[in-house]
Amino acid sequence: MHYEYPEAFARFYDVMYRHLRDAVDHEFYMHHITKTKGRILEVGVGTGRFFRDALANGADIYGIDISGAMLEVLKSNLEASHHHRISRQSIVDFSFDGKFDLIIAPFRVMMHLPDKEEQLAALNNVYRHLNTGGVFIFDAFVPDLNQLLHPHDRTTDFDGEYQPGKKLRRSVSTDPDLINQTIHVTFLLEWDENGKNNQEVWKVPLRFFFRYELEHLVERSKFSHSKILGDFYGNDLKRGSREFIVFCAK
Ligand SMILES: C[S@@+](CC[C@H](N)C(=O)[O-])C[C@H]1O[C@@H](n2cnc3c(N)ncnc32)[C@H](O)[C@@H]1O
Repeated sequence: MHYEYPEAFARFYDVMYRHLRDAVDHEFYMHHITKTKGRILEVGVGTGRFFRDALANGADIYGIDISGAMLEVLKSNLEASHHHRISRQSIVDFSFDGKFDLIIAPFRVMMHLPDKEEQLAALNNVYRHLNTGGVFIFDAFVPDLNQLLHPHDRTTDFDGEYQPGKKLRRSVSTDPDLINQTIHVTFLLEWDENGKNNQEVWKVPLRFFFRYELEHLVERSKFSHSKILGDFYGNDLKRGSREFIVFCAK
């Protein structure tokens, strides 16, 4: 079951996430992109938060995503000569003729896969598409027990403007399910347009991982070498880490 990012979410994604996320992960992924000499694939490329900068830096990068709305936003910001680099495919069963030296799935893409067989299929599919010596990098958040116990109820996480004088606000509510390791997230977007207040609600489940589950998952896959770091600055996983940054090498 796939939950596609809807239209308004795609439309305002860059405004919100350049603000909420770039300071956390942009330098890290751009570092791995720029040091790669060969072909790169970004899985869950979205609106191209990394992809567009990677192309501007001369990377030979391709992108896939399951959301038509996200890809439309990305394409509208790309020169037509680059459109062939983008396709609508899932991490679980994408296919390309050639292989890649780096595959990345930045910002919770793997957490969109609820089911362990899909997660395993995704890892093995990525493995198949890597050259020997190639690397797959993805991230997930470390579950915050406090937030699992005290869910959000319409917490505002963005309150700004999408254009001068035009307001955009997002709030988030969560409904955590510990047994299925899933947080059911409800986003409410509100924005000013044509003199009225517009709204879009989007519900999406996010599958959270614990440390040893992630290790077992990768060990069950075809990847035989992996390492999990605890932040985007290269530090090992330790008590108090907020991120799982998973490196899988072929
Ligand atoms: C939080 S966004 C991250 C987008 C981009 N990588 C970034 O960092 O800004 C997650 C993206 O993963 C995509 N996605 C979700 N499930 C997917 C799947 N099965 N295969 C490929 N992409 C998927 C979503 O459509 C969305 O664009």
